[in-house]
Order: sequence, then C-alpha cells, then structure tokens
Amino acid sequence: MKIKEAVFIISNTDVEKCPAPDRPEYAFIGRSNVGKSSLINALTKQNKLAKTSSTPGKTQLINHFLINDEWYLCDLPGYGYAQVSKTEREKFMKMVKKYIASRENLMNTFLLVDIRHEPLKNDLDFMQWMGERGLPFCIVFTKSDKLGQGKASKHIAQYKRKLKETWEEFPPMIITSSETREGCKDILNYIDQVNEY
Ligand code: GTP
Ligand code: MG
Repeated sequence: MKIKEAVFIISNTDVEKCPAPDRPEYAFIGRSNVGKSSLINALTKQNKLAKTSSTPGKTQLINHFLINDEWYLCDLPGYGYAQVSKTEREKFMKMVKKYIASRENLMNTFLLVDIRHEPLKNDLDFMQWMGERGLPFCIVFTKSDKLGQGKASKHIAQYKRKLKETWEEFPPMIITSSETREGCKDILNYIDQVNEY
C-alpha cells in the first residue's frame, strides 16, 4: 500500500471525543522518546505531521491522522517518562489504557521499543496487560540505524529469550528506523493484511 494522503484530524485527552470509529485504526505506543511520532512521519513521508522532540514527553494527547481517507493512525503519549510526576504519569497511562481497551475500531497496536535497550519492565508490563485482554499488538524495534546489524540481532535474540519466560508465542516483530525508513514497508504491509482480512 502507498500512503497518498495523510491528514491530521484531532488531538484530545478524551476517548469519547476521538473521531467516530467508522474506519480501521492502528495505534503507536511505547516509552517516551522511543520514536512513535517520528515513525508516523517516516511512514507518511511527512516530516511535520506528528510533533517530535528530543525531549521525552512531547506527545501528551491522543492524536488522530486519517490515511488515504481509509484508515486512522493514532499517535499516543509515551509512558515511563521519569521527569513528570507520578500522578501525571498515572494519568497518561490511564488515558492510554482506556483508549486501547475501549476503542472499538482499533485493529492493532504497534508497541515500540528502542532496539538498543534490554527488555524493560514497563514495556513487558504493557505487553502483559495487552495479552491478558487479548488485544493484538506487534513489537516494533526502533532506531535500528543506531546499531550495527550484528548488535541488533543480538539485542533481538535477548528480547526473545526474555519473552519466552512468559509468552508461549512471540507477537509479530518489525525492525525499523525513521532515519533510513527501514521497516516502513513492513508496517504498511502488515496494516494492508489486517485491513484486507
Ligand atoms: P514522546 O512523544 O515524548 O512519547 O516521544 P516519541 O516516542 O514520539 O519520540 P519522537 O518521535 O519524538 O523521537 C524522540 C527522539 O528520537 C527525537 O530526537 C528523534 O529525532 C529521535 N528518533 C526517533 N526515531 C529515530 C530513529 O529511527 N533513528 C534515530 N537516529 N533517531 C530517532
Ligand atoms: Mg510523540
């Protein structure tokens, strides 16, 4: 699939105010600064569609983008950002979980993890939370341009070993870079497959 058109629709904190759930939707979630907004820009080839920043905690709202007038992409606030208060962090987490658990047209969530990091507790906890509810997700490794091929494979093997402790099967995994656009086609193909299903 080719993205011909990507349009920002609305930002809000209120799940009830999201666009009508009349089209398939795909959400991006993960720790602050992992590269969610950048990946949305890489996918749509629009540098400024989603707001990015080198300072974690940039995205604080639920953002909807309409793609090809056919499906929605949703950029969500990140979790685990230490600089904001515990109360604020819990507020974001509650909002994000409410959105993911209740959004009826949500077809899949892309859960982003930085390929350089070892498996982190808040990511594993989030996967667990999704798994327990039967919510479909893919693991998307980000910033692959920051690691050589050998190191990247090593990190993914380590991730799989960790997941094996609790998961019988692995979710789909996609390696990406917003800099080189590695993996963008894989994400779009995945969305295509789900849309057609
Ligand atoms: P929050 O909105 O704060 O949750 O962050 P986010 O997950 O949306 O991250 P964002 O896309 O704003 O990117 C955070 C920083 O990482 C920015 O400085 C980006 O330029 C950088 N970055 C994101 N993706 C990549 C990538 O694939 N490669 C490299 N080298 N840098 C990246
Ligand atoms: Mg963001």
